[in-house]
Amino acid sequence: MRHFLIIAHKALTTGDFSLNDMPGSAGRMDILCRCINTSLFLSHDMRRDVQVHLVLLGDPDPGKIVRFDGETLRYLSPDERSSGSLIKKALQKTAGDMEVRSTPGVFIRRGGLDTLLSEFKKHGVNLIYLREDGDDIRTTDEPLDNVVFILGDHVGVTDEEEELITAAGAKLLSVGPLSLHSDHCITVLHNEIDRRTYT
Ligand SMILES: C[S@@+](CC[C@H](N)C(=O)[O-])C[C@H]1O[C@@H](n2cnc3c(N)ncnc32)[C@H](O)[C@@H]1O
Repeated sequence: MRHFLIIAHKALTTGDFSLNDMPGSAGRMDILCRCINTSLFLSHDMRRDVQVHLVLLGDPDPGKIVRFDGETLRYLSPDERSSGSLIKKALQKTAGDMEVRSTPGVFIRRGGLDTLLSEFKKHGVNLIYLREDGDDIRTTDEPLDNVVFILGDHVGVTDEEEELITAAGAKLLSVGPLSLHSDHCITVLHNEIDRRTYT
């Protein structure tokens, strides 16, 4: 199983945003839509062994986790409006501590980075924090299966979040020397693991 965790500092946390203005009033929701697409889509198929966890920290109700589960996901098509609409439907649900399903394969609950880190640790999932100055993914000995890849958004990761991530025992890996968009990192990650897995 491959997990992707994206920390979205500005993403709106209610479902009343316009699909016509996801980069603006929805708090860079477009970034999350692209991350969902690159995490889950193959050409004419879907990666069923992938889960995406969006940690939404924007106004007006920060601290929500939206999860996309590749195995049971339905009604997602590759355009950004489609993933935006599934996030919007999830945010229209009342989020409590227990996860609720909004549409097939999409779930919402209350929680933050700390919630997910402790759950992944408890379930023995390897934590990898993506950062430009980490060890090169091409030469690392770290196992890249049963792993969660943790990425920031357009503003990166705060010092406080980095402390939580490193205290949880995450290894730092880099996908290359330049700073890439989060969704582009996901494409590279898939490619590196696919090469190890299928060739
Ligand atoms: C657009 S970048 C963040 C840029 C932000 N201005 C900053 O300085 O942190 C989004 C995320 O992608 C990941 N990232 C970008 N380039 C990377 C690279 N070369 N290797 C590993 N992770 C990378 C990091 O997790 C980063 O937080």
